[in-house]
Order: sequence, then structure tokens, then C-alpha cells
Amino acid sequence: MTQIDIPIIPVQNPRDLPGGAVEIAPLGTERRRELIERIKNLLREKDAVLVAHYYTDADIQKIADETGGMVADSLEMARFGNRHPATTLVVAGVRFMGETAKILNPEKRVLMPTLEAECSLDLGCPADQFVPFCDAHPDRTVVVYANTSAAVKARADWVVTSSIAVRVVSHLLDQGESILWAPDKYLGSYVQQVTGADMLLWQGSCVVHETFKAKELAALKALHADAAILVHPESPQSVIDMADVVGSTTQLIQAAHDLPNSTFIVATDNGIFYKMKQSAPHKTFLEAPTAGAGATCHSCAHCPWMEMNALENLAAALESGDNEIHVDEAIRRKALRSTQRMIDFSQGLDTRRFYARVEA
Ligand code: 13P
Ligand code: SF4
Repeated sequence: MTQIDIPIIPVQNPRDLPGGAVEIAPLGTERRRELIERIKNLLREKDAVLVAHYYTDADIQKIADETGGMVADSLEMARFGNRHPATTLVVAGVRFMGETAKILNPEKRVLMPTLEAECSLDLGCPADQFVPFCDAHPDRTVVVYANTSAAVKARADWVVTSSIAVRVVSHLLDQGESILWAPDKYLGSYVQQVTGADMLLWQGSCVVHETFKAKELAALKALHADAAILVHPESPQSVIDMADVVGSTTQLIQAAHDLPNSTFIVATDNGIFYKMKQSAPHKTFLEAPTAGAGATCHSCAHCPWMEMNALENLAAALESGDNEIHVDEAIRRKALRSTQRMIDFSQGLDTRRFYARVEA
């Protein structure tokens, strides 16, 4: 069998591009109010529902909540879009979330505020390099994270999100299967460690989570001895090792609500604070450190692509119908198999459940 090295794919952070990330100018109070009203009216007029990720702007999350839409993690976004009767899904998040909605709902129109919102995990796993890599390991079951393109999902046996990755891999291990995992090396090695499965890992990473720093986190924890540390598993192993709870965004919000601690140090995108504070209003939330003193921080606990979603481009997409997601039908059909497996597997599971570390 031909051996293929795991490719290392450089990914450009949009904040490093000439001119930096798309700067979204702060809106005046009146303009903001006007846009929010317009979006709510357009959602009604166009038979559309807004599905937003926790990392998007708080105004967008609020509109989704107030109009019968959904604010959620990637699994619940996919499930909600799948069961909601609206003929248009407006997905505020990053491209793979829009594509997942289209894979599951070909009959629906899927719009996004911008088609520029990518994800470093998706960009770091191009199908033209991933497919030959899978072909070189025909004995392994291919499990990909939802943060991938439709073409990568089309080559996969299973799609998973962070909320069910451990449970799916445990299930596959019980069937005696060995795994080819992509793209996130940190989530992959966490799942490998928890399940003990034989996993060959693609070497992708998230530009936001990989910048959380264990040493600085330990220093912050020393100042807040009673704080619980909540960590998204896209973070480096050294940060995960310090966590009281490791979980998907929804699971971290649930933990912030359920645990008795009054202070939490949170290692994920700071867009999550809007919902965390809503679900536990009397608690204190601190951002986990992303760099040492004097270091340059490019992703600073906030995704450079998620922040491209704004009120202006959301209103414009609804008004014009631009920024529609299209997926080639042959690819979509193949991607549906692995994506639907995830949806079916998650039925009946309590996907909000989180695992808290129990000190020995
Ligand atoms: P969740 O599914 O936990 O929301 O994660 C999605 C993501 O992109 C995290 O960076
Ligand atoms: Fe992708 Fe990381 Fe942004 Fe999530 S936070 S969408 S994993 S780049």
C-alpha cells in the first residue's frame, strides 16, 4: 500500500491579510435598532428562520431567540434546521454550518450573511489531499469533524461534532474499528485519550483555541482558586489537562449553569459569554489567557471568521437573497450519508450532558 505523509496545510488567518480582517464599524443606536427591526420583518416576510452559533454577535443571537430561531452548537444547529418548517434557513456562523444545513435540507434555501466566513479546520483539510490520504488507509473508518467541507464529508463514513465525538468513537471501538480522524489534532487526541481507540490523526487546528496557554491559565487560576475551568476540546492538551469540564459549547454553557462555582475561566471563543451570562446571571466569567505578556495575539479568543457575521450583511442577505449556499448534488448525496449518521446517532442522546473532572 502507498504510504502518504499527513499533509501540513498552512492556513491564512484573515487578520494577517493586507488590510486585516473585515472591520465591522460599530453602529449608532438608531441604525442598530432600525436594522434589528428590518431583519425581524424580513424573516417573517421571507418565511425564513435564523439559526446562529454562540460565537456570533450578541445582537444576532438575540434576534434568533426573539424570532423563534435557534442559538446553538453545531450539532443542534444542524438538527434544528432539519426539523424547522421554514423554507429559508439563514445560518449565522461559518461556511461549514451553512453547507451542513444544505446537505440535510436540499429543498430549502440556505442563506448566510457572508460567504467569506471560513474555518481554519475546514481550510486545513482540502478534499484533494484528504481523499488520497483516506484511500491510502482503506482499513480505517473515516470520522470527520463537522468543521469540514461537503466534499470531505462525502469521503467520510461518519461526521461528528464535539458534543458526540467521544460517544461515536466509543461506539466504533466497540465494533472493533480503527479510525482515521480529521481534521482537528487536539480534539482527535483528546478523543483518543478518553476512548483508547486506535486513531490516525490529521494535523489541523483551530486558530482560536490553539492559542490558549496553559502556563498563563495556571497563573489566572492561582488568583481565582475557587473558579472552575471550562475548556472546548479544540484546545491544546496542556489546557485540556487543567479543565474541570471539557465539552462542546452547549455543554460548557450547561456546566456554567449547573456547577456550584461562582466564577468560571472559559477557554473558548468569548462570543459564548452572551449565553453563559444569560443562563447564569449571577456568576462571573473570565476569558482564559491566549498569550503571555507582550505577545501578539491574532485570534484573541474570538474567531476572525465568526465576527464577519453582522447586522448589516444579515439584513442585506435576507433582502437580496444573495449569499446562498449551493452544494453539488452528487457530493451532497454522498455527504448526506455520513452527516445523517450523526443526526441519527444523536437521536435520544442527552447532548447537553457534560463530564466534570472528579478529583481523586
Ligand atoms: P461546537 O459544536 O462545540 O459549537 O463547536 C463548533 C466550533 O467551531 C468551535 O470552535
Ligand atoms: Fe473554526 Fe475555530 Fe472559528 Fe470554530 S473558532 S469556526 S473551529 S476557526
